[in-house]
Amino acid sequence: MELLKPPEVSPKELYHLLQDLYTKTRLLYLLRSAIDLGIFEHLEDFKTPKEVAKEIGCDEVLLEHTLEALNKIGLLDKKLEDGDTLYKNSKIVQLYLKRDSQYSYLTPIKSMFKRLEHWRDGDVLRNKMVVDEREFFSEVVKVMAEECKCWELQKTVEYLSKFEEFKRAKKLLDIGGGHGLYSIGFSMVNKDLKCYVFDLPGVVKVTEYYIRKYNGKNVFTIEGDFYKDDIGRDYDIVFSSYNPGGRDPVIIEKIYRALKVGGLFVNKQSFPTSEDIGDILDNIEWNFFEFKGYKKKKFRYSFERSLQFQDYIRFLEEIGFEVLEVVSLEDILGYDLNRDTKIVVAKKVGDKNEGGVQEVHT
Ligand SMILES: C[S@@+](CC[C@H](N)C(=O)[O-])C[C@H]1O[C@@H](n2cnc3c(N)ncnc32)[C@H](O)[C@@H]1O
Repeated sequence: MELLKPPEVSPKELYHLLQDLYTKTRLLYLLRSAIDLGIFEHLEDFKTPKEVAKEIGCDEVLLEHTLEALNKIGLLDKKLEDGDTLYKNSKIVQLYLKRDSQYSYLTPIKSMFKRLEHWRDGDVLRNKMVVDEREFFSEVVKVMAEECKCWELQKTVEYLSKFEEFKRAKKLLDIGGGHGLYSIGFSMVNKDLKCYVFDLPGVVKVTEYYIRKYNGKNVFTIEGDFYKDDIGRDYDIVFSSYNPGGRDPVIIEKIYRALKVGGLFVNKQSFPTSEDIGDILDNIEWNFFEFKGYKKKKFRYSFERSLQFQDYIRFLEEIGFEVLEVVSLEDILGYDLNRDTKIVVAKKVGDKNEGGVQEVHT
């Protein structure tokens, strides 16, 4: 009798949820297999599954289904010819998923799978990892370099280039500049500009690698810890991108002092607010590990003294900045992101000394 009594609610919602998650997870792993097997390396031109299977030493039927699945999610183009189905890389694959492409996105994808291992190993929920920030950032900036050169770098450089202050600038500090690609880009646009990438010892070795790789002219490194060390002075521009100190009042004041009057503080920064599932998962991931030297807050990309957006703007104005522009990174990139990232451009209009902020009249 018990057996014939249906549960109070049908399993419909659970069934659909599992189906959806299982489908997407399988696709993700299929994409990884395609990359690892080098399928995209073999599909610059139209080929049949049989030809590709032979070239990479793979089961023909499995490959036929795999290519069809990759076509369904927009990664392969398909055509029919003399009764055969042929596949070829879509434009997006040619640009971003080929090993030899200058816009190869394979390093960020690899890093994504590395992070997924922590999700698979649920033990991380019980035992947080403790990581050394220097080692962490030395790795992260390599991934960020490969990521930003696929669009964000060019769009950010283009955005900043429209400011007269940028065109006139002679000295720029890229604080927490990591790979240094932004500085390399800025110095290509403004030939009179000297860019100084300030970052932790160890990380600047990565910066130097990229300066050499892209033949960066007028780009220099300064080794240091912006919490402890002098960051220099008389800058026309201080640029900061995803800098853990970018929302910290202590660092903002330091930046203020390092700027010339009339100089710009350009900060590309995440100010997380929204609460959709992607954000919540990012919050979880953020808490998988602790840094040895930095105190994190519980929401992603937040540290001990990180200000929320409104408080951040108020603080800038209080210490003598005029906020010239606040733009959403999404508007600059031209597509939606799953993070609330803004670029805030603020001008140093006063010189804060013991008597308070003095307005500068031009
Ligand atoms: C998330 S990465 C951003 C890198 C680069 N600006 C970008 O947007 O791609 C943060 C950078 O801040 C640097 N950083 C963190 N703490 C620092 C400190 N105390 N002093 C100097 N640099 C620091 C890291 O080494 C890293 O390069």
